[in-house]
Amino acid sequence: MQTGLFISFEGIDGAGKSSHIQAVADAFRAAGRTVVQTREPGGTPLAEKIRDMVLHDAMDTLSEALLVFAARCDHLNQVIEPALARGDVVLCDRFTDATFAYQGGGRGFDWNVLTQLEHWVQAMPDGKLRQPHMTLWFALDPQIAAQRLASARVPDRFESQPLKFFQQVHQGYADRAHADPKRFAQIQAADELQAVRASVLHQLQSHGYLPVHRA
Ligand code: TMP
Repeated sequence: MQTGLFISFEGIDGAGKSSHIQAVADAFRAAGRTVVQTREPGGTPLAEKIRDMVLHDAMDTLSEALLVFAARCDHLNQVIEPALARGDVVLCDRFTDATFAYQGGGRGFDWNVLTQLEHWVQAMPDGKLRQPHMTLWFALDPQIAAQRLASARVPDRFESQPLKFFQQVHQGYADRAHADPKRFAQIQAADELQAVRASVLHQLQSHGYLPVHRA
């Protein structure tokens, strides 16, 4: 049986990551893998209810942090761990790096408390921490992201935040990437769509997760 593979997609709102997940799923399926596409907060009926609250209901930052980790706990137990145990490829639109970037960076919440919650929720039976094997970080100047978002849908509690919030979120991602450089692959999200797509597929190939097609 194949070994399970867990890949997360991260970046500030407006970085355009979600539009590339389908292409990655198609590439893995073409390579013969079974793919589970999921997202956070969300991915289970309970976690989707929590998502709705986190995106739309007013709350303090500790409640927000506890809720995203509660959603993550259910998501790991119901979807991610079973899929990895089957040997599937799990493509997750955001994971814990988003909590460090948004609650830690954006909201200024205590990084150490988030680290404790991360250990509580992501500890595996062997004591190791469940983390994505690879995190594709769609890095984009927050100012460009803000311009993209201005013409987009009705903003939620995060998308409606000022530029400074997104600069802090961006810094939060940079700090996480700096702390775990092997896991993170940085994608220049300001490039043209096709160039971004090619760069995403190239990263997955160069890490040995996707086969390289030679003409
Ligand atoms: P999405 O729009 O990319 O689906 O993400 C939903 C929003 O939730 C996005 O603005 C980032 C935010 N978020 C957090 O604040 N903390 C988290 O842990 C996660 C996973 C997302």
